[in-house]
Amino acid sequence: MATRGFAVENVIGEGGYGIVYKGVLQDGSVVAVKNLLNNKGQAEKEFKVEVEAIGKVKHKHLVGLLGYCAEGAKRLLIYEYVDNGNLEQWLHGDVGPVSPLTWDIRIQIAVGTAKGLAYLHEGLEPKVVHRDVKSSNILLDRKWNPKVSDFGLAKLLGAEKSYVTTRVMGTFGYVSPEYASTGMLNEGSDVYSFGVLLMEIITGRNPVDYSRPPGEMNLVDWFKGMVASRRGEEVVDPLIRLQPSPRALKRALLVCLRCIDLDANKRPKMGQIVHMLEADEFPFRAEPRTTKETAPLHSHSAVTNKVPRPTKDVEGDDVQRTYLPAEYSDIYVTLDKSHPSLIVLIGTLSCKISCKLSISSMALS
Ligand SMILES: Nc1ncnc2c1ncn2[C@@H]1O[C@H](COP(=O)(O)OP(=O)(O)OP(=O)(O)O)[C@@H](O)[C@H]1O
Ligand SMILES: [Mg+2]
Repeated sequence: MATRGFAVENVIGEGGYGIVYKGVLQDGSVVAVKNLLNNKGQAEKEFKVEVEAIGKVKHKHLVGLLGYCAEGAKRLLIYEYVDNGNLEQWLHGDVGPVSPLTWDIRIQIAVGTAKGLAYLHEGLEPKVVHRDVKSSNILLDRKWNPKVSDFGLAKLLGAEKSYVTTRVMGTFGYVSPEYASTGMLNEGSDVYSFGVLLMEIITGRNPVDYSRPPGEMNLVDWFKGMVASRRGEEVVDPLIRLQPSPRALKRALLVCLRCIDLDANKRPKMGQIVHMLEADEFPFRAEPRTTKETAPLHSHSAVTNKVPRPTKDVEGDDVQRTYLPAEYSDIYVTLDKSHPSLIVLIGTLSCKISCKLSISSMALS
């Protein structure tokens, strides 16, 4: 009834699990009704998982499940309606020469998405791994507030740290290498997908795009190559008119790199990602300051574009390694301990601000 008998004019779109309709309930409230394909067995199983997982979950940045219907072969999920399309449409659709998604709006979308995922990973017991983080599953309202949708692939995780699944789901281009190759699933896989999503948000490029030249078809490979050859400024979506500050850009690029670390254990948690994206200064290491550290120190930190990799423990030095992927081992963070809040990025992502600071030989030896 709400969807006028699943009328064609009420179809919002179709995904891998069925058709989504816009519906109006008797009280006038608007809903999205997902009519799941009658895929015997699997659909039913997915349906139950989905209902159990989403039914409990209420969060500003997660699309709420309002109800469901399981009558005979029919499987319906009724969601709150989010009225401004999805992120994929806004990033890759025809929006004209200038994207309405400014840099700040994009970061706001990334932060909101990260908060939604952090809630799934860290705010629920048992936690929920989304398993299909991608731009079409980020719905937007008129104020560009993001809401993570579609838990059709979600599985509840129990006390066990990771979960092995028999078939890899998720979407091509977003799936973490370890999930694709072993079926090992934990929240780190979502973090990887979030990293790809963030790259997509920054660059406006699809995770896989066959219309691009060979070296650019895979977003992750192209992105890593660009950053490694110090061309980070060039990756920003040309449809963004007002460029981000170098600092804001570097922060976002580094979050991407950390999320796609091949070592899943080194990837940050979603909660940490929220802080990284929101922080004025990028706290690579929020270590408690020791007495030693609070004592007077050099007034300037070490800075250079080419920094030899520390061979010994750098404790006491001004140079601290970040937790970046191995292939970015020449990216370091120097921390000026006399100004604990000042973190200077050097190496591949050489930071202009760093040029203003003098070089400390101690930190480089
Ligand atoms: N709660 C909702 N409110 C408004 N639109 C929605 C809602 N849920 C889904 N949609 C829209 O319906 C369409 C189909 O969504 P669906 O989730 O079925 O497909 P998908 O996200 O493209 O792929 P997948 O099945 O892999 O998730 C998309 O355009 C999506 O933006
Ligand atoms: Mg979807």
